[in-house]
Amino acid sequence: MNQQSVKMESRNLNFYYNAFQALKDISIPFYSNQVTALIGPSGCGKSTYIRCLNRMNDLVVGSRAEGEILLDNLSIYAHEVDVVELRRRVGMVFQKPNPFPKSIYENVAYAPRIHGIANKGSEMDDLVEESLRKSGLWDEVGDRIELPATSLSGGQQQRLCIARALAMEPEVILMDEPASSLDPIATQKIEELIFELKEKVTIIIVTHNMQQAARVSDNTAFFYMGELIEIADTETIFTRPNEKQTEEYITGRFG
Ligand SMILES: Nc1ncnc2c1ncn2[C@@H]1O[C@H](COP(=O)(O)OP(=O)(O)OP(=O)(O)O)[C@@H](O)[C@H]1O
Ligand SMILES: [Mg+2]
Repeated sequence: MNQQSVKMESRNLNFYYNAFQALKDISIPFYSNQVTALIGPSGCGKSTYIRCLNRMNDLVVGSRAEGEILLDNLSIYAHEVDVVELRRRVGMVFQKPNPFPKSIYENVAYAPRIHGIANKGSEMDDLVEESLRKSGLWDEVGDRIELPATSLSGGQQQRLCIARALAMEPEVILMDEPASSLDPIATQKIEELIFELKEKVTIIIVTHNMQQAARVSDNTAFFYMGELIEIADTETIFTRPNEKQTEEYITGRFG
């Protein structure tokens, strides 16, 4: 695998929804400034896994995790961990763009204001502009940031959600099929953005699009029925995977 320093990792992670075990003994290292793609058929546990990494699953009644998840070598389940701070450090972008029913500006400014990341008007204006620039949106909407976020196109809304995550200065960004509701041009913009963002952050992306996984990621993990079948550098997974199941899946001969 393409290796550098480990930013985040799961070790022997099991996850249960009541009696149903959705994840079985998953150990994956995520390297700093790299993109890891999670692929596998519907229902194999990709979203469950990614939601463990910032403890979003804590909210699911009857769910339970076993094993370890480490961020900078410290357990995210340690009792001194502040979950709000964890979610600031490990940001998330969802499948469907979900902007708040507020202005473009407020979508980006809201969380940093609550967290005290920027306060003064000019400081906040700068943070909003910088975040919109990083997400590639400033040139398109910089002159109308007081308009409602819902006035943006779907692809722009998704980049606004990315800007919103970036404003919190995350170290890791989780993306669960971030481009699946977008057209090819908007998708390409998101992919270019991922490429730029990895200079600063570690990215974990779930995708059903094999070409997308091949284009954007350094490493790829193949999940099947709650198990990690194989993980390797992306080129290896797509050219000479070790496991027959991986090969069948990536060549579309699955099932
Ligand atoms: N809140 C929940 N309660 C109970 N079971 C759940 C819950 N969420 C997911 N599951 C089950 O856990 C398994 C894994 O689901 P998950 O959403 O992680 O799959 P996925 O790989 O993201 O699939 P998809 O590609 O369709 O998004 C599935 O069998 C699903 O039905
Ligand atoms: Mg999913």
